[in-house]
Amino acid sequence: MMIPIVKPTLMNWDAVIRDFRQAWESGQVTTGQFTRRLEAEVERQLEIPHVIMMQSCTAGLMLVLRALEVEGEAIMPAFTWTATAHAAVWNNLIPVFADISPGAYTLDPEKAVQAITPRTSVLMPVNVFGCPPDYEAFAEIAREHGVHLVYDSAQGLGSRYLDRNGVWRYAGSFGEAEIFSMSPTKVISAMEGGLVTTSNAELAQTLRQMRDYGKTPDAEDIAWLGLSARVPEVDAIVAYYNFAHREHLISRRQELMQIYREGLKGLKGVRFQETPEGYQSSGNYFTIFIDGQEAKHSRDEVYQYLKEHQIQAKKYFFPALHLQKVYQTMGQFYRGKLPVTEAAAASGLALPLFSHMTQAMVFEVIKISRAILE
Ligand SMILES: Cc1ncc(COP(=O)(O)O)c(C=O)c1O
Repeated sequence: MMIPIVKPTLMNWDAVIRDFRQAWESGQVTTGQFTRRLEAEVERQLEIPHVIMMQSCTAGLMLVLRALEVEGEAIMPAFTWTATAHAAVWNNLIPVFADISPGAYTLDPEKAVQAITPRTSVLMPVNVFGCPPDYEAFAEIAREHGVHLVYDSAQGLGSRYLDRNGVWRYAGSFGEAEIFSMSPTKVISAMEGGLVTTSNAELAQTLRQMRDYGKTPDAEDIAWLGLSARVPEVDAIVAYYNFAHREHLISRRQELMQIYREGLKGLKGVRFQETPEGYQSSGNYFTIFIDGQEAKHSRDEVYQYLKEHQIQAKKYFFPALHLQKVYQTMGQFYRGKLPVTEAAAASGLALPLFSHMTQAMVFEVIKISRAILE
C-alpha cells in the first residue's frame, strides 16, 4: 500500500456531526456562530487580538494586501508556494524575489534589505515547512524603511518563537498580519480554510467585510473590492476540533521528525532543514535536501525510487517561483541570481509526514531512502 506524502488528521467525528446538524437545521450554513467560535478560540489560545477566518489562505493574502492598499513592489522569497506571488500579482503588485538563508530556507533579511527600492511597499516573508522567518529582523527592517509587513504563515499554525524577553509566542502575533492555511495538507486542517491574524482592529473589521464582497456592516452598500471568501460552517467546525488537539498533532510530528533525523543521519550529501534556536516548527513538512554532486543519487532519482517502492514524496518547493511557467518573464531576470533558492528547489524532497502516521511507516521510508542513498 502506498504511503502518502500527507493525510489530514481529522478529530472528533461525533462532535463535528452534532455541531454540523445544528448548523444544518438552523439554515445558517456559512460564516455563522461556528465560524465565530473558531475565531474566538484561536484568539484566546494564541493570545491574538483578532482572527478572521477565510475560505483559504490565498484569499486571506489577497484581501490583506488589498485592505492595506499597498502598491508598487512586494519583496518575497521565490522558495515558497506560488500563492504568495499570486496574491501580490492579483493586487497589481510586482513580486520582487530575494534569496533565502541556507539551513532555515526562509527569506534572508539581508537579501530582503538589498532588494528594497523606493517602489517597495510590502515585505512578505514566508514560514517554510513550519519554520517561521526571522520575525525580529523583519520587524526592524519594516520599521526602518517604512514598509508594510505581511507574513505568509500558511504552514505555520502552532509554530512558536522565543522573543527577546524570553517569552514563547505563537506565530500569529507578528507583523501587521499573518495568514495561515487550514487546507488538507496542513497540520491543523479545516478541510479548506485560512486564518488572518492581526492586532489592528480596523484592519480586522475591514477584512470581515471584504470576505463577503466588501459589504458595509449594514449590508446596504458595498464599500470595498472584496471577494466571495466566506466560510462554510462545516469547515469551521472541523477546524475547531482539530485546533483543540493542536499540541498533540504537532508533538506527534516532532517525534516522527526526530525518528527521520536519526534514521537518515550520516547519508552523504543529505541535509535537513535547521530550525534556528528560539523557534519551534509546526512540523508541516519534513524535507531533506539531496545535493546532486555529493550524494550517491540525485533528488529526482530518489523521488522516482521512492515512488517505485510505494512511497509518495514531493519535490518541494519546486519549481522555484521565478522558474514557474506563469512567472517565466521574470525568470529571464532572476535565473542565477537566487543561488540558495535554486539549490534548495533542485535538492528539496519532502518525505511522508502526518500526525497519525505510524512509526512503522517512517521506518519503511527510512529503509527505502537508505537503500538508494547509502
Ligand atoms: C507557503 C504557502 N502559502 C500559501 C498557501 C496557500 O494556502 P491555501 O491553499 O489555503 O490557499 C500555501 C498552501 O499550501 C502555502 O504552502
